[in-house]
Amino acid sequence: MNYRHAFHAGNFADLHKHAILLAMLAALQGESQALAVIDTHAGAGGYDLSGEMARRSGEAQAGIFRLKAASDAPAVFGSLLKAVDAMNGGKAGDLYPGSPLLLARALHKGDRYVGCELRPDDVALLREILAPYVNAQASQADGFETAATQAGRGGRAFVIIDPPFERPDDYDRIVATTRAVLARAPDAALAIWLPIKDLETFDAFLRAMETVTENLLVAELRLRALTDPMKMNGCAMVMIGAPSSVDGAASQAGDWIAARLGEAGGRSRVWRT
Ligand SMILES: C[S@@+](CC[C@H](N)C(=O)[O-])C[C@H]1O[C@@H](n2cnc3c(N)ncnc32)[C@H](O)[C@@H]1O
Repeated sequence: MNYRHAFHAGNFADLHKHAILLAMLAALQGESQALAVIDTHAGAGGYDLSGEMARRSGEAQAGIFRLKAASDAPAVFGSLLKAVDAMNGGKAGDLYPGSPLLLARALHKGDRYVGCELRPDDVALLREILAPYVNAQASQADGFETAATQAGRGGRAFVIIDPPFERPDDYDRIVATTRAVLARAPDAALAIWLPIKDLETFDAFLRAMETVTENLLVAELRLRALTDPMKMNGCAMVMIGAPSSVDGAASQAGDWIAARLGEAGGRSRVWRT
């Protein structure tokens, strides 16, 4: 496993994913007393954007640093910006939270969170970052297997799937895991992150997901026209069991990112199947 999220932390796709995740968590908390959150691919939990990996990629400069400097950031980014500010002790700083820290901070008393990560170095960082949060824990385990065998234990399942897409079977494993989660916990909510390089791969994934459930909420964000399939031209969040307020939040996040961080041909679209 070569993937290190530190290269990509705080990029346009993280902003889209994290703003939508926080909106979905809040909406689910409005529906359910106790959520059992499983983050199948947790990463290190938080990132120092002044570090070597982030500086080399420059992705955060084109992402979170532009959002922080913006005077027109819409309300959907409020919780994310607050979390970034808190992580930096209220000062200008280079720390950026990953999904584990964002979700752990926002848990209600009855909720719990488990973040799965396979890399031992990232698990150690994840344990450290989650230590102050009593309802949150790090698990050195395969996230797909954990979700398939434990979803719904201790509350309504909210499963977040955010693989590195280094392996060709990641798409198939997402579909199989979604099927297993819904078989165990039919009221489960899921949020799945995907890169968009070309439309064929994305469409094939959506068609495969539709064999599992017909009720998907899709938030598609293109940063530019899809002319070069070797590039990550955009990203998407595909959700199941998302309350209706998530549609508006996802549109707000995607529209701002496409307009302010995107290039010619960039656009955002949110729809339900
Ligand atoms: C895209 S990053 C996660 C970023 C994180 N969700 C966030 O938003 O801050 C994917 C992570 O999944 C880890 N990983 C890869 N395969 C895994 C698996 N089968 N189970 C758990 N973690 C895995 C990688 O080591 C990497 O740290």
